[in-house]
Amino acid sequence: MNDNGKQLFFSLFLSLKSLDIEDEDYVITTPFTFTATAEVILHCNAKIVFADIDEKTYNISPEEIEKCIKKFGKKIKAIIPVHLYGQPCDMEKIVEICKKYEIKIVEDAAQAHGAEIKFRVQSSKFKVKKVGSIGDLGCFSFYPTKNLGCYGDGGLITTNDKNFYEKLLRLRNHGRVEHYLYKHIGFNARLDNLQAAILLVKIKYIDKWNEERQKIAKIYNKELTGVGDIITPYVKDNSSHVYHLYVIRTKYRDKLMEYLKNNSIGCAIQYAVPLNLQPAYKGKYEIVSELATVQKVANEVLSLPIYPGLKETQIEYVVSKIKQFFKKL
Ligand SMILES: Cc1ncc(COP(=O)(O)O)c(C=O)c1O
Repeated sequence: MNDNGKQLFFSLFLSLKSLDIEDEDYVITTPFTFTATAEVILHCNAKIVFADIDEKTYNISPEEIEKCIKKFGKKIKAIIPVHLYGQPCDMEKIVEICKKYEIKIVEDAAQAHGAEIKFRVQSSKFKVKKVGSIGDLGCFSFYPTKNLGCYGDGGLITTNDKNFYEKLLRLRNHGRVEHYLYKHIGFNARLDNLQAAILLVKIKYIDKWNEERQKIAKIYNKELTGVGDIITPYVKDNSSHVYHLYVIRTKYRDKLMEYLKNNSIGCAIQYAVPLNLQPAYKGKYEIVSELATVQKVANEVLSLPIYPGLKETQIEYVVSKIKQFFKKL
């Protein structure tokens, strides 16, 4: 089942609304994400609990989630795991924890359309699930830069729960049950028909585009492993990575970025200032640890060019300039 929303911000926000998240409720998420993930919690007047991340995948750490639950107990109503850069979170553990403590899961799959996890169902049997189909609700962004993008703003919520589905259909359309009958104070978060039409064409190509991204990542991995102190992306063996972003780590990040930019190579930092250090979030969140891993990773990450259509000669150029930089160090 799905329910379209105007953009991922609305998908996340309406998802929390459909769960009746409100004053005094606590929602756990990662501070190493785009601001929309966490701002929706504050828009519900709920409290953010930022958990630290796993140093290898950069996704929220299940162990840190448990620490948050131990501290805030029953106040925790939901968690928003973000499948960062295109790699699924450790959903096996997250689902187990959330079942134990009766916490709802709203997946932020904005960067991970099509990424999969192999769940062990018996000792030698597996079930493959796509991100967005694992938690209670899954949220996707179709912002033009995403793996599946429209030509403006668009978002989508997935759920297998009929009650959430029906409530979300009402919430996105002014709380309407039928013509001029309103059950909730709702919103106008309908997806534009024009964007939907574009997405219906583009969705046919998403697997092919993701495969192209994976091929590019494979070349980068091969060429950049062992160069300077570079750490290439770690991919868990029970999941696939759809490389919305190809992110390396190096202690020389700022200098390397400048060098690449001077050689006309576009690169970016996602995210240099984590949300816990952003002025907008000052005094508006709880933590159970110092978020040391977030800080360490934020100082070192660098996103290299990756998109379907990037040519081998262009990849070679990027790689050659990175190698040159480390030789000159
Ligand atoms: C992880 C994450 N969450 C949420 C969003 C917000 O999506 P939108 O711009 O469609 O509201 C983005 C978009 O950049 C994102 O990367």
